[in-house]
Amino acid sequence: MVTLRKIDNTNVWEVCRLHVKKEQEDFVASNMESLAEAFAVRESGGVALPFGIYADDAPVGFMMFGYDVVPGEEGMPEIARGNYCIWRFMIDKAHQDKGYGKEALRLAIDYVKTFPCGEAECVYLSYEPENTGAAKLYHSFGFAENGETDGEEIVAVLRL
Ligand SMILES: CC(C)(COP(=O)(O)OP(=O)(O)OC[C@H]1O[C@@H](n2cnc3c(N)ncnc32)[C@H](O)[C@@H]1OP(=O)(O)O)[C@@H](O)C(=O)NCCC(=O)NCCS
Repeated sequence: MVTLRKIDNTNVWEVCRLHVKKEQEDFVASNMESLAEAFAVRESGGVALPFGIYADDAPVGFMMFGYDVVPGEEGMPEIARGNYCIWRFMIDKAHQDKGYGKEALRLAIDYVKTFPCGEAECVYLSYEPENTGAAKLYHSFGFAENGETDGEEIVAVLRL
């Protein structure tokens, strides 16, 4: 069974040991970088909720949620205001193509629908234009591009 587990002292290092394929490294930050960013965003008064993705008791991936804009951060897409973000998402190279990504995304949407940080109309994410595999997965869940970009990345939105 696939589950999302909050990252704490008991699992931080096993999640940091998870990596994507070499050719996917431009699509997502390393988990260690994401966790450093989570710390910094929280220190700035923003929201960053990192989780390990587990298949039974095996760590297989990483996901991080955001909510609303990060104080002081410029250039965030308009959709960020008052909405959730699936900010980071990866499945380790040894565990891809087994359906874990799809299951984790389903759990992610269920999680944001509990509105853990407050009300929202949407959850959004962004992906590199070359990341057609991820785009296909997102579209299959109903995410649709809203015309915004986040840096080079294309923003796609799902109404909750
Ligand atoms: C995107 C990612 C999380 C998908 O995880 P996964 O566990 O391999 O995906 P699943 O096995 O659940 O497959 C889900 C669906 O996506 C499709 N898919 C996943 N990766 C794909 C790829 N590279 N190319 C084409 N299709 C892909 C699968 O074919 C499957 O579709 P189907 O149900 O119609 O067969 C994983 O490939 C990954 O970590 N990629 C590198 C990091 C990344 O790009 N993260 C997203 C940043 S926006």
